Amino acid sequence: MRLLFVCLGNICRSPAAENIMNHLIQEAGLEGQITCDSAGTAGYHTGAAPDRRMAIAAQKQGITLEGRARQFQPEDLAKFDLVLAMDEDNYRDILRSVGLTTSHPKVKMMCSYAQNHPDREVPDPYYGGSQGFDYVIELLMDACQGLLQEIKTEIPEIS
Ligand code: 4NP
Repeated sequence: MRLLFVCLGNICRSPAAENIMNHLIQEAGLEGQITCDSAGTAGYHTGAAPDRRMAIAAQKQGITLEGRARQFQPEDLAKFDLVLAMDEDNYRDILRSVGLTTSHPKVKMMCSYAQNHPDREVPDPYYGGSQGFDYVIELLMDACQGLLQEIKTEIPEIS
């Protein structure tokens, strides 16, 4: 099962989602069965490390952010089993990159997996303060837990 987390710059939300999910996968002993990557719909941070503010917020929860930014490629849709968009713009841009306008069975909104937060989008924390980064981690923890649960339910042989 290959998961791709997508935001705009691939330096805040999607690397946080990728590393939180890897953390939960390790805790569940499912390394090798579920793999994670992340990408940005924009390429202007290509090669950059995760944003320091996001890394600090993640570290408070014991999660180290690893990886370098890369841009989402249309071929990613074939390479991954599930593509998780952080917000509506990301969702639309992913679909548009493959010539679609409404939906694709592999493309989902990340927040649709959250069980304890009503948010429909993971808010872009880039131009805000540290509270925004802390909230992104909290929301992604919830959504990643729900996603892992869903994967385990849908693919019983994985758990
Ligand atoms: P991300 O956050 O999409 O969660 O990685 C952003 C990163 C960079 C910018 C905006 C959002 N930017 O405008 O450079």
